[in-house]
Amino acid sequence: MENLDWKNLPFGYMKTDYNVRCSFKNGKWSEIETSTSEYIDIHIAATALHYGQEAFEGLKAYMGIDGKIRLFRWEENAKRLLSSSDGIKMAEFPIEKFREAVYKVVNLNKRFIPPYGSGATLYIRPLLYGSSAEVGVKPASEYQFIVFVTPVGPYFKGGIKPVDMLICRNVDRAAPKGTGIYKVGGNYAASLRAGVAAKEMGFASAIFLDAKEKKYIDECGPANFFGIKDNTYITPKSESILNSITNMSLIEVAGSLGIKTERRQVPVEELSEFSEAGACGTAAVISPIGKIVDPDKNIIYEYCKDGKPGPVTMKLYNKLLAMQYGDIPDEFGWISFVE
Ligand SMILES: Cc1ncc(COP(=O)(O)O)c(C=O)c1O
Repeated sequence: MENLDWKNLPFGYMKTDYNVRCSFKNGKWSEIETSTSEYIDIHIAATALHYGQEAFEGLKAYMGIDGKIRLFRWEENAKRLLSSSDGIKMAEFPIEKFREAVYKVVNLNKRFIPPYGSGATLYIRPLLYGSSAEVGVKPASEYQFIVFVTPVGPYFKGGIKPVDMLICRNVDRAAPKGTGIYKVGGNYAASLRAGVAAKEMGFASAIFLDAKEKKYIDECGPANFFGIKDNTYITPKSESILNSITNMSLIEVAGSLGIKTERRQVPVEELSEFSEAGACGTAAVISPIGKIVDPDKNIIYEYCKDGKPGPVTMKLYNKLLAMQYGDIPDEFGWISFVE
């Protein structure tokens, strides 16, 4: 693709050549089909539209300096989609078919994979939804699975930069035994009020607390939270947060760098004890947090006083990113090549 300004791509949608689709009917998944349309025909009574029977995933394809296309832990996305399907009673999409669909859509859109060194990547978005008509509240009998891709620019243009976040107590994203652990559209709809309010006040994201007691950190909008204290990576354990694949990976990367790790409840007051804090997810790998404002308690927690991410954050970020692009050996067996 010659005329794309890869370095200045936004983190947004752009049309590519193809997407792939598969339907579930009479208890069986069809073969994977290729489409050039960006649109779907959907029944006006589809359960996805009325009862939120929809789940999605997000992963990236990276172009290495060797010209090889790499995927990062795609099996974890396939497994998480299975878990989301179970969580909202949808037909399960088989792991091997997920692989076939992702490889196919990446191959078909090779010309949109950003070049090595641009900081941009090809974002891959699988989605699954209930497509058959129901009027009563019950699971659909038919489903659609689609994967589209879109090139996205580097999350931080001009290098990794700390962002500010706002603690939110007046909106809950997910209840303790609700759907917060699944990657389903309803959770994101529920988070929008808080996210929009935080952005209007100049923050990058809202930080959600546990819905029951409002004592512990849950998540940072669409990313997991971590704090660093005494050379230890500490990340919340909660029954209402998404199990981030980036976070799972950072825990292992931390171990390989001699950094201790803890996954446990993180009380809000502990924010004052961290030397560094960050949000992690596929989009940015890590967004270092400069400041967390707690408006109800009138407290500001500050981390990057010099305006730069902390040393532990940078070590983790650099190692994970280098592994994703193939700059360093894949010591954990997380990379698959799309040929
Ligand atoms: C609510 C939420 N938490 C955390 C994450 C980070 O997960 P991952 O590292 O798998 O992208 C995401 C993004 O997928 C998310 O939407």
